[in-house]
Amino acid sequence: GGNLLLDDRKTICEILCNGLARQEYRGYDSAGIGIDGDKPGEMLFFKEVGKVAGLRKRIAESNVDTTKTFLSQVSIAHTRWATHGPPSIVNCHPLKSDPKAEFAVVHNGIVTNAAALRLVLQKRGYVFESETDTEAVAILTKYIYDSQPDKRMNFTELIKTVLKELEGSFAFVFKSSHYPNEVVTARRGSPLLIGVKTEKKLKVDFVDVEFAGPEGETKSMDALAPTSPGGLLAPPSAPNLLRTQSRAFMSEDGMPQPIEFFVASDASAIIEHTKRVLYLEDDDIAHIAEGELHIHRLRRNEDGTPQTVQHRTIETLELEIAEIMKGKFDHFMQKEVYEQPESVVNTMRGRVNFDRNVITLGGLRAYLPIIRRGRRIVFCACGTSYHSAIATRAIFEELTEIPVSVELASDFLDRKTPIFRDDVCVFVSQSGETADTILALRYCLERGALCVGVVNTVGSTISRETHCGVHINAGPEIGVASTKAYTSQYIALIMIALQLSEDRISLSERRTQIIEGMHALPSQIKKVLEGDKGLQALANGVLANQRSLLIMGRGYQYATCLEGALKIKEISYMHSEGILAGELKHGPLALIDENMPVIIIMTRDSLYPKVQSAFSQITARKAQPIVVCTEDDDSIPKGCKTIRVPKTVDCLQGLLNIIPLQLLSYHLAVRNGFDVDFPRNLAKSVTTE
Ligand code: G6P
Repeated sequence: GGNLLLDDRKTICEILCNGLARQEYRGYDSAGIGIDGDKPGEMLFFKEVGKVAGLRKRIAESNVDTTKTFLSQVSIAHTRWATHGPPSIVNCHPLKSDPKAEFAVVHNGIVTNAAALRLVLQKRGYVFESETDTEAVAILTKYIYDSQPDKRMNFTELIKTVLKELEGSFAFVFKSSHYPNEVVTARRGSPLLIGVKTEKKLKVDFVDVEFAGPEGETKSMDALAPTSPGGLLAPPSAPNLLRTQSRAFMSEDGMPQPIEFFVASDASAIIEHTKRVLYLEDDDIAHIAEGELHIHRLRRNEDGTPQTVQHRTIETLELEIAEIMKGKFDHFMQKEVYEQPESVVNTMRGRVNFDRNVITLGGLRAYLPIIRRGRRIVFCACGTSYHSAIATRAIFEELTEIPVSVELASDFLDRKTPIFRDDVCVFVSQSGETADTILALRYCLERGALCVGVVNTVGSTISRETHCGVHINAGPEIGVASTKAYTSQYIALIMIALQLSEDRISLSERRTQIIEGMHALPSQIKKVLEGDKGLQALANGVLANQRSLLIMGRGYQYATCLEGALKIKEISYMHSEGILAGELKHGPLALIDENMPVIIIMTRDSLYPKVQSAFSQITARKAQPIVVCTEDDDSIPKGCKTIRVPKTVDCLQGLLNIIPLQLLSYHLAVRNGFDVDFPRNLAKSVTTE
């Protein structure tokens, strides 16, 4: 949404659809927009199941007047990933409060008390047409609006009242026929940012936050918003600090200027319009009208004290639009796999001194003594990020001599794991917005543990809410199946272990060996990528039309097996399982016969003899495994299909071994005509529990 200047309807629809297309990786069951109609207060909706391309087609085929221009307007748009109700046009956002659409809403997240709200509202005669939790919010808004005798609430106040009734997580954008050219947006638990676009330079680069009044209630807008620029109504310590934000949007010469605001859950949606963005925090409510942005807080601190002065800084993003485009590749995932020689360098850049074997992670520096004193390290993550923690657990324990446990965030919360002040909890997340991981983080923060983030997305919730951390700097990852983020997380975690152990003389040889290994990685990854044709041949040959694939290995390679199997499941929809070779005889061996496809990871490390024994156990049962082995290994029986990779240090080998499996999964999916970047039923960032 936003206020655009004299744009025609065609341009507005294009801006919305382009923004949605860039966020498709977040969800793509259906897409919809809500824009201003021909008459004041009227709204038009276009919705389509499936991807944004379908929505564009629907708009093009409609007979809407695309030439109509607007001096000021608000439009909203959304791509959905179903949580309540299947993907369908009725369940697609924006959802409206009534046939006339007095209120329309787009929503990320889940409102957990929606069923109860729905019952109450239905009893009062309100009619629902969708199965979504979001519609309950739209109708609740109308209900609260309808119940005030004098209809005097302003838009912000109204939405504040609505939000106080809601449980769960959300990022909302509201549009209403009662408040034309105004938009209210709010978040709790789901990401939200506002892009600001003006011709001239902004005078100040922050927005002051307005607080609720002394009882935690909002005052009427008349009292809240002074119209004179720069009006400071109360000293910073006053409970109901009020300041105008309008001056932030005055140009340097003090003149009001044309301005557009873009509200989005992800910077990639708006980056082509502006790089100036402001991230909202949980419980922020932003109101945009008449070229002004006002940010309010929903509530006071839990103990009833007023919140202290806060600003929301307008940051300038460094993201280049080219970085989020596909370039010469067919799919984002393919591009991201091929980017790994550079993305691993970006992770290490400025942090590893290869001449002196020194690691410097600026984001951890102040906390190193506390981490070293920690009584244990708990990794917490989901999906691929979880696998990066499994992959590096052993080297972490070896180098730090601190016990390490690795937790799936959802299970960690289900178990209400005991966490103490002397625990160090490391949250690994590409997006920094995964709901389960965020909840686990907040759980650990409450218990006083030191919380460290290992995150790709700068400005994300996890990177903001942790005490310290490391950005993996892999660049934007668009493909739902995570690839380059995995290898960068892996390296970032190894760098943390190396930094923590820098003062251990007895380990200096081992550390040197690893750092030298890291130096050679980019060229070794390039070598692995050269084997792409051979992997494509496997996907189109022995592995074509198979129903299942087992991937086995042990030690450092167990994580490779899990991650490889996840890639194959995610995008080629083939059943695949990562198996710890040590467990073979405790069950999986029963699956083995001449028809069961197996990949066995046998790159040379201290466990090689044990993996050789697993190899014998399965070949004795007539399996014909494909062997992942090092380039020069001549002990692999003739006639065995092999995937050869360069050899590196044991704890880094998984970085090279995963790449053929990434490519294999890619080719299996392409072969079957599946949507590689947007696999069915999955989303890039899972912002719901
Ligand atoms: C989803 C994505 C996976 C990702 C996982 C964790 O399942 O599809 O690719 O590994 O979430 O996401 P995070 O952003 O926390 O790393």
